[in-house]
Amino acid sequence: MLLTSLFGLDEDGLLDPDLRIVATAIEPLSSEEFRRLAEGALLKYLDTARATAPALKRFLARLSYVRVDASDPAHFSPLADAVGPIGGGLSIFLSTAPSLFGPTIAGLSQTGLAGETARLALEKPLGSDLASSRLINDAVAAVFPENRVFRLDHYLGKETVQNLLALRFGNALFEPLWNAQGIEHVQISVAETVGLEGRGAYFDGMGSLRDMVQNHMLQLLALVAMEPPSSLNPQSVRDEKVKVLTSLRPVGQRDSIAGQYTAGAIGGALVGGYIDELGGPSDAETFVAIKAHVDNWRWKGVPFYLRTGKRLPIRRSEIVIQFRPVHHSIFGAPGGSLQPNKLVIGLQPEENIRLLLMTKQPGLYRMGLRLREVPLDLGMADAFSDVRRRIAYERLLLDLIEGDPTLFVRRDEIEAQWRWIDDIRAGWASRGSGPRPYSAGTWGPSAAIALAERDGVSWHE
Ligand code: BG6
Repeated sequence: MLLTSLFGLDEDGLLDPDLRIVATAIEPLSSEEFRRLAEGALLKYLDTARATAPALKRFLARLSYVRVDASDPAHFSPLADAVGPIGGGLSIFLSTAPSLFGPTIAGLSQTGLAGETARLALEKPLGSDLASSRLINDAVAAVFPENRVFRLDHYLGKETVQNLLALRFGNALFEPLWNAQGIEHVQISVAETVGLEGRGAYFDGMGSLRDMVQNHMLQLLALVAMEPPSSLNPQSVRDEKVKVLTSLRPVGQRDSIAGQYTAGAIGGALVGGYIDELGGPSDAETFVAIKAHVDNWRWKGVPFYLRTGKRLPIRRSEIVIQFRPVHHSIFGAPGGSLQPNKLVIGLQPEENIRLLLMTKQPGLYRMGLRLREVPLDLGMADAFSDVRRRIAYERLLLDLIEGDPTLFVRRDEIEAQWRWIDDIRAGWASRGSGPRPYSAGTWGPSAAIALAERDGVSWHE
């Protein structure tokens, strides 16, 4: 993701000709060996039309490698030597185990790499609860002021996620209805077909609630629910998101469901259960459904249903805004039942925006009109067929290099996220029951369906 994204920026002429990329890890590699590894990885991901020899050569020439044992702050001087004098600014990107954040930051500070202007980007996991996240944030704050800290949530780099801002605040159409008077409920769903993908050591310690809800899904919720920021500057946007996150009501005992997949089939292929994939017993949840509430004026009484899981039947992330039904139907029973309008924002794999409307079914009928729900469909790939779809990291890395933190998560945001999540976990612990089983290839435990059906709502599929 990182190299491919940096290559994409280079290809488009967005990287300064003098920009250098110094990679570091614990493996003993020469720069030459690292460049070969990078080339192999890039060729695997990019089609040959993009990875032409001159473009690759130019990009690979920017790369060098230094071995650093990040567990020991004393080992950072070779890195400082490789970076050399910092003229045009330094962006540091840490994608590492949380236990290494502290020593790495100390090492960067001791060798002067933390400098006056250096920016620090941090890839998750940023802790596993509020307390551990605070420890990391404190260690960071001791060296880097908040305006130079860039906490990543790759969902914020996705085109359609940013499009939420455009859709809500670039159109006069939706905002008057975007509240408890106009909207009945909201669904945010991130369905994955993948299982553990060899990430058991990390995932099993986290589970879906902390892996997906704490970060990505709460960011989506905040963007859907926030008040209009006064401008697109980082402070305004993030201030508005924090207000939403701190208004989240603690989740009631009946309002969160955890599940774990057992063996099943996806797209006709048999797949094993989580425990088999992991190779040992586990209570980690691979599915979560939550009914959330934002306790503020705008969203009074509007439920936000969140659902995410691994080994679900399809890969699809979407946000569904279900508007309130018409006050009174003039069409009577033969007209067919009137469906409330829905705005369905598809984030992936297809990026699309569909507005579901009731229209007249063509034809002659004896008893008045017959109506049918049809989508007004905007496929982003068709509307912008001349524009290459970018990996989320391209946007985020460019913003990091240019120093724009709007699409990064501020300390108070992440801490508000953890506070809400910790409370859900405490509720689960006090219940004492583990996750409910669901077969791979299904939409999670039946209790998740019931969570919505109890309110007369069905999950959008
Ligand atoms: C990551 C999670 O943050 O997001 C993974 O750790 C998950 O478990 C991934 O698979 C999903 O990202 P995307 O962009 O494929 O939706």
